[in-house]
Amino acid sequence: MSPKQQPGRIDASTVSRSFDTHARSYDKLVGANPGYHEHLRLSARRMGLRDGGNGLRLLDLGCGTGASTAALLDAAPKAQITAVDLSAEMLAQARRKTWPSTVRFVRADAEDLDPVKFGGPYDGILAAYLLRNLTDRNAALRRYRSMLAPGAPLAVHEYSVRDSARSRAVWSAVCWGVIIPMGRVRTGSADLYRYLWRSVLDFDGVEAFTGRMTAVGFEDVRVQTMPGWQQHIVHTFLGRAPGLPPGVDPDAPTPPEGLDMTKDVTR
Ligand SMILES: C[S@@+](CC[C@H](N)C(=O)[O-])C[C@H]1O[C@@H](n2cnc3c(N)ncnc32)[C@H](O)[C@@H]1O
Repeated sequence: MSPKQQPGRIDASTVSRSFDTHARSYDKLVGANPGYHEHLRLSARRMGLRDGGNGLRLLDLGCGTGASTAALLDAAPKAQITAVDLSAEMLAQARRKTWPSTVRFVRADAEDLDPVKFGGPYDGILAAYLLRNLTDRNAALRRYRSMLAPGAPLAVHEYSVRDSARSRAVWSAVCWGVIIPMGRVRTGSADLYRYLWRSVLDFDGVEAFTGRMTAVGFEDVRVQTMPGWQQHIVHTFLGRAPGLPPGVDPDAPTPPEGLDMTKDVTR
């Protein structure tokens, strides 16, 4: 075991290797988290993808075992979906499931996407529980923006508790009361789950992350939270690539397609 793989030493540069180790138990653990799959579906629906995704090209970055891919497929069953992860074992678990021929899984680093292989433009990107694990978030966000068609949405589904003492307290209670002990029992090691706890506490607050998205050039940046214990803990951060999708009148009174702007912005 290298020093980087020792318990408690996981960081953004080693996290995908840790997911390799935990891949086989991942689905059972997230299945025990009430709302996990429904919340991913909610984020995918919030992207406002039109016409069941007919003719759209979508990316699911950090797809893991395919939970977020399934959510994207649910929101846009007619789209072409490319699902990307750096962990070979997480991808192996994903590929064991049944998928339509419109879904493909690719092993790649979401911080270093080959422009030839992944050039785009894409009509939407979902990144669920990924951004927190990246070393250079601004560079990654800039790259994602450049891969999107004008007006196309990025949905970042992520924990963010820094702005609220209550959210931080609930998060720590759930981690130390449930997630970390359950992870230890199910996998024999709690390292990844302690990393999860710590990395969420360290991650941007809602204001900082929405500011970051705006600073790198996303437009109409907004955030909505989830129901359940994850309220004000898990969020959908939405932004659009600059420009309007073809055929949208900038002076029209209704919002452009791509984002549902009718919902409350909740924190
Ligand atoms: C918590 S899992 C989330 C999986 C899936 N999106 C879901 O919602 O269930 C995070 C995933 O991000 C992947 N990941 C972390 N850093 C990555 C990187 N730089 N490039 C690609 N995948 C990465 C990990 O391997 C892991 O599968």
